Amino acid sequence: MRAVDIIRAKRDGEALSREAIESFVCGVTDGSWDDYQASALLMAIVLKGMNAVETGWLTEAMARSGERVNLDHISGIKVGKHSTGGVGDKVSIVLAPLAAACGIVVPKMSGRGLGHTGGTLDKLESIPGFRVALSLQEFTSILEEVGCCLISQTDNITPADKKLYALRDVTATIESLPLIAASVMSKKLAEGSTALVLDVKCGRGAFMQRPADARSLARAMVTIGTAAGLRTEAFITRMDAPLGRAVGNSVEIAECIQVLSGTGPSDLTDLIVKLASRMVLLGGKATADADAEAMVRQAITSGAARDRLRHMIRCQGGDATVVDDPGTLPRAGHTHHVTAAKSGYLQSLDALLVGRTAVALGAGRDKKGDSVDLSAGILVHKKPGDAVSAGEPILELHYNDEGRLGAAVQLATQAAVIGDKAPADTPLIMGWVHDRGEQMFVALP
Ligand code: URA
Repeated sequence: MRAVDIIRAKRDGEALSREAIESFVCGVTDGSWDDYQASALLMAIVLKGMNAVETGWLTEAMARSGERVNLDHISGIKVGKHSTGGVGDKVSIVLAPLAAACGIVVPKMSGRGLGHTGGTLDKLESIPGFRVALSLQEFTSILEEVGCCLISQTDNITPADKKLYALRDVTATIESLPLIAASVMSKKLAEGSTALVLDVKCGRGAFMQRPADARSLARAMVTIGTAAGLRTEAFITRMDAPLGRAVGNSVEIAECIQVLSGTGPSDLTDLIVKLASRMVLLGGKATADADAEAMVRQAITSGAARDRLRHMIRCQGGDATVVDDPGTLPRAGHTHHVTAAKSGYLQSLDALLVGRTAVALGAGRDKKGDSVDLSAGILVHKKPGDAVSAGEPILELHYNDEGRLGAAVQLATQAAVIGDKAPADTPLIMGWVHDRGEQMFVALP
């Protein structure tokens, strides 16, 4: 099939055949489609959409574009996890060793930060020596030994997503339900898990800003996973303000260690405990919610989850002493406080602007291939709902490059809105979509 005919069909709003979708994915993978043709089809998909059947075919074709990891020789249910990306979202780094300490095997392929969102791999690389580019052989043997392993996407697994994601990032074609669903689910189908917990972020700092869109994305991914025999559920979680109190790389690793030591911020800890409990239930290690939660909390208080993190860091070549002495993580040379202009209550702390502030400080990339300053980042002193007095610090910026501070301060200053009354409490978990139905905990317009 000719690329131009497939592009024209989607441009004119037609549903694509399975053959057309396969021809596109094969063409992107083997290079017979040029980037400009692939970009044109991506933009047509953003504008005209794809129905559920097309989205399923796209996912399957992308999952088949490379090798699929076979973990059958490792006993037990393998439970994967994926987030659609946010600001201060360090959940996977805590969740993997925590679920592993409860007897779950957690294979996890993660991404780098792009745009205003942070990336698990960049955060992990702030641990001296930590390697994320492992061979499949190393990945599976660490999974057998430790129960969890966090790696980067390899050239052999879902190469179609690797190419398409890079193109989408530079052609304004990220924010599309079928493209996000196929990107996430193709990786998860290839990763070797038998069950999956998804965290669909919703709000200012997320790709899905409206709850109804986040719910549609969650439904689409649960449908695709379930149809492929992967027991899948999705939580829709609020991403209007940063998660936890650290945004960056080494500062987020330090916060992960706090959570595993029982001293982490409550929003982050509660979300991690909820997701880990679902992983324990899906992995068959408990049958009741309360038992699963007790098991997860016990893995934190006993230190078992911290031990798993140490073990995983050692096996991936990193310096595990950071777990006991986070002071040895890279630390920025300078700090600057962004303070409250008046007294009142913090109404909102815009996750998008805080994420952009972190990038401006050097913690993220403006474009693919940029290097990242592993010690640049932000500590959040005030969360939405907190009372503030004029002059009190709201954000603490960590930086090395003086030339970056001005732009960062400007963004950070706009991020915090102070009002006279405390804002209404809003639940962090907005909804739950699974193969037996769904519950929304917020009203949808
Ligand atoms: N995460 C992914 O892996 N892919 C997307 O398209 C968006 C978030």
